[in-house]
Amino acid sequence: MSVSISISVNGKRHHLSVPADTPLLYVLRNDLQLNGPKFGCGEAQCGACTVMIGKEAARSCVVPVGAVGAAQVITIEGLVKGKRLHALQNAFLAEQAAQCGYCSSGMLMAAKALLDRNPDPDEATIRREMTGQKCRCGVHNRIVRAIQRAAKELRG
Ligand code: FES
Ligand code: FES
Repeated sequence: MSVSISISVNGKRHHLSVPADTPLLYVLRNDLQLNGPKFGCGEAQCGACTVMIGKEAARSCVVPVGAVGAAQVITIEGLVKGKRLHALQNAFLAEQAAQCGYCSSGMLMAAKALLDRNPDPDEATIRREMTGQKCRCGVHNRIVRAIQRAAKELRG
């Protein structure tokens, strides 16, 4: 049964009529045309669908849209300010930290959540915090370097 739901995504409020248990990922992709977050496993195992809900990285494939409430959702599309890429996006480009790119949106959002709460993580912390984000192309070392590069840039 559909219900009226209001969610805030990338600073914009949306009013929808959907079943409350619809995965947030489906709403983002199918209703809001935000196709940055990807469907990988659908079971909270790969991280391709990662977005931020409030200050936390979350697997949007298993978050019912009805559970988001007043929290701000940020997707990869929300990282770009005007035409300016986020430091993490620039760093991923500079380090060539994407191969197929399927994992990259989730990687970037998990990395943003990490750097928001820890601006200067050491390599072991980055590896530990990012361990649940799967990359089938094996660019993990470049991703770690990109996060270190962005952290440095953001610290100024
Ligand atoms: S699609 Fe959500 S964790 Fe894999
Ligand atoms: S770049 Fe292909 S899955 Fe990570």
